[in-house]
Amino acid sequence: MEVTDYSFFPTRVVTIQFPETELLNEELCDLFERRPELDDRSNTQPEALNLLRLAETVPAIEQLRSMFLAGVKHWLDAERIARPEGIDLLLFSNRTGRGESTIAHNHRTDLIGIYYARTADSSREPISPDDSEDYFEPGDGVLVLHDPRFNANLTSLGHRDHVKVHPRPGLMLIFPAYVWHSVTPHRGDFHRLSFAMNFTLRWPAGVEEPHSLK
Ligand SMILES: [Fe+2]
Repeated sequence: MEVTDYSFFPTRVVTIQFPETELLNEELCDLFERRPELDDRSNTQPEALNLLRLAETVPAIEQLRSMFLAGVKHWLDAERIARPEGIDLLLFSNRTGRGESTIAHNHRTDLIGIYYARTADSSREPISPDDSEDYFEPGDGVLVLHDPRFNANLTSLGHRDHVKVHPRPGLMLIFPAYVWHSVTPHRGDFHRLSFAMNFTLRWPAGVEEPHSLK
């Protein structure tokens, strides 16, 4: 008898905890306290207002842009994908008050980055190494990544058809845009603030698919 075990089609998620982001996060929170109209969270699509239009005049937005570019480089390197010719960037925010949540959605782009400027306090690891988390336990502003395989829960005896991310300030995630994700209700009396970046990769003319590094 010959038994062979494969695990096809994994989905890569990269997390980065940036150090010493207190000042940056404070500046970002202050910006949105002063100008709440900048928040465009209900629009995750390419026509959304692009916060990068502020990059030349608001150093915190420029810093965020550099951090997202560092994050996407890690994701591309981990996937062993050669650098694209360019990357189109769309930055928008998600500023939520008490009781607000975000229903499951994906983004019309290639890769998504998320950065947290202000969240509920959490002393736990952002992503639990085991699969014991209850899907229906809402938590406080927890990001839920849903298995992109349709009805994957029907064949899973564990709970690996979803992953919960307990965010903290300074944390960034990079993952493919086809991953449906949602956010459970924010319970604090302050505004929770996160940023999303849509990365649309551009390839040299005549190249239809990303080159893989062998
Ligand atoms: Fe999103």
